[in-house]
Amino acid sequence: MMKDLTNPPIDRIDGRMKVTGGAQYFADFDLPNTAYCVIVGSEIARGSIASLDTKKALGAPGVLGVFTHQNMPPIPGWDAPVGGEADGPAPKPKTEETYRILSSPKILFDGQPIAIVVADTFERATYAASLVKATYTKQPTRTDLHKHVSDGVAPKGAEGGNYLRGKADAYQTAPVTLEANYTIPVEVHNPMELHGILAHWTAANTLMIYAKTQGVNATQQAMAQAFKLDPKNIHVHTEFMGGGFGMGLRTWPQETAVVAIARKINRPLKLVVSRSQMFTLVGHRPYTVQTINMGADRDGKLIGIAHAATAETASYEDFTEATVNMTKFMYACPNVSTRYRLVRLDRSVPIWMRGPGEATGAFALESAMDEMAHKLNLDPIEFRLRNYTETDPEHNRPYSSKHLKEAYQRGAEAIGWKNRKNEPGSVREGDWLIGYGMSTGTFNAFRWEASARILLKADGSLTIQSAVTDIGPGTGTALTMIAHNVLGVPVDRIKVEYGDTSLPKAPTQGGSAIVSAVGSAVYDACTAIKTELAGLALRAGGPLAGQQADELTLADGVLSVEKEPKKKVAVSDLMQANNLTVLDKTKDSKGGPELGKYSMYSFSVHFVQVRVNPQTGVVRVTKAVSVADSGRIVSPKTAASQMIGGVAGGIGMALTEEAIIDHRFGRFVNNNLADYHVAVHADVPAIETIMIDKPDPIINPMGAKGMGEIALIGFAGAVANAVFNATGQRVRDLPITPDKVM
Ligand code: MOS
Repeated sequence: MMKDLTNPPIDRIDGRMKVTGGAQYFADFDLPNTAYCVIVGSEIARGSIASLDTKKALGAPGVLGVFTHQNMPPIPGWDAPVGGEADGPAPKPKTEETYRILSSPKILFDGQPIAIVVADTFERATYAASLVKATYTKQPTRTDLHKHVSDGVAPKGAEGGNYLRGKADAYQTAPVTLEANYTIPVEVHNPMELHGILAHWTAANTLMIYAKTQGVNATQQAMAQAFKLDPKNIHVHTEFMGGGFGMGLRTWPQETAVVAIARKINRPLKLVVSRSQMFTLVGHRPYTVQTINMGADRDGKLIGIAHAATAETASYEDFTEATVNMTKFMYACPNVSTRYRLVRLDRSVPIWMRGPGEATGAFALESAMDEMAHKLNLDPIEFRLRNYTETDPEHNRPYSSKHLKEAYQRGAEAIGWKNRKNEPGSVREGDWLIGYGMSTGTFNAFRWEASARILLKADGSLTIQSAVTDIGPGTGTALTMIAHNVLGVPVDRIKVEYGDTSLPKAPTQGGSAIVSAVGSAVYDACTAIKTELAGLALRAGGPLAGQQADELTLADGVLSVEKEPKKKVAVSDLMQANNLTVLDKTKDSKGGPELGKYSMYSFSVHFVQVRVNPQTGVVRVTKAVSVADSGRIVSPKTAASQMIGGVAGGIGMALTEEAIIDHRFGRFVNNNLADYHVAVHADVPAIETIMIDKPDPIINPMGAKGMGEIALIGFAGAVANAVFNATGQRVRDLPITPDKVM
């Protein structure tokens, strides 16, 4: 277990580079002779292209080519007809439809690429793209989930399976019951940095890629499959990313198309999609409708919960997420059933968006818990405590760690929960009604396999190497803290090299898993170096000979023994005495079988105070306190920032974010950041974060669980519950816009 932190919270190691323009994002790379491409999207959501006129575009200045289904260069790994081949060929079709970019006149969603226009500058490509004209044969279009809920199908695989514990209908017989429906609209990631790729064939079969990906190794693998190349011949670089939130968790078809076209034109080729294309080409949080049935006895003990979710997916691929999972294990309830269905619509495929399905599910479950507490005339925290469980009721095994009771208590104190009145609409200040709400969040704490290399030089500097991409949370900073804590190297002597496939393999950054995965590899490699140093110091003739290994401390580049006679040696002197210029260790790290004996989850509790103006329906989040039970916090400052970012996202999810489709055309009407409202500074109050900061004894040597997802999961429910407490209005359809409150 890692010892206590020896340094105050450090600043982000890449913060200065990011705010001074020193950080190079994929689109910042400029290669000689680069060509630029622009995607032309379909204007219908279902049907086929009847005619496509590319002549004018081809004649426009600087145009190097216009690629359509009629002349798209082959993607050799996609030869077999497959479904959902964006990640490379799937073994067999998952759905009846197939979407392969620019491979047929068939149209399966609005905005589907119908042409990629290539020119010598971005501006010329943009102009030429405007000259491509298509006519279509339209087919009837299904884009409205509400109209087609009854067409839901059970997807294959774990996330689609029905779940039952006890009796499915037990809630019906309970003395106090609730049935409620909840809706989450389409939300889109829309990080500031747009999606795209720069592809450069450096030789016939070798490829250099700068991309916006959350996993360089995953992109390398996908391209190796698509182009039937040895992954070793594909170099992917993504050191900096201007936000991911899930949109970079897969390789998208247009990326593969750009690589194919770059090969054809024999020039480096760059794609940066437009803001409106961010709505259709890189996934979204799926529109989801949910029903919760709940029953409890009059003492507030849960008797049964049934949770059903139906989400949209594309006609050509089943996207699933863990929307109903939290309901299975969150509370001590003997009878729980869940059901998850997909409806295939004429829409582009969704993908995980921060918190993913768990955030969707938590909104429903934690709203329902609040509704039930109200029916029982119980404080919502008290209701949760009456149904608290110390072991996982889904798998009948212990949690690796769970300090949720403490999280409830500390958050309640910080928000001033005692000021909350159980009677809704009973606190008014001038024109404003005031209310408090809370919600629980939880997400799997993973331990994935990862590797890292550590180089400790005799000059006292240390380098950490890992292929992992930092999508924004401050991964490099967290890895720096881990190395600092094991090897006592001052943080300003530590350098992190990451985001490149030339470095030791790492998983895709996602699922709140990277500190646990890559951090463990860093920990293991640093520990191996520490062991070697200790051996050199303690051996016969060594400077600390005769001492015991467990009495050694290592801090600020000095190995020392506290016991009399006190002795110490500088690590640099020790290395020089042994003719070592560098100690170099690479470790591959993964959890052992003992992890399977535990359920590993991070937990969060979100508390908010809202003010609601009943005349205008305006809801302001005026206070937010978020508490994380995510094990040992290895980097306090970036962890707090991570939590604050999740809460800002949660305010958007709760109050403003909604991608609206005009179902006549199957097209978004607000596909820009002026009309799709993310929370801005004026919407976000000062956010207090509280870290329980108790190490998880099981998951990894740092005791650290993840926190990226739990920062968001549950937050929207806390706001909805606070709005109810302020006004007596229960809003079950996000976002909570003024019209729903007035
Ligand atoms: Mo996150 S939705 O795992 O990028």
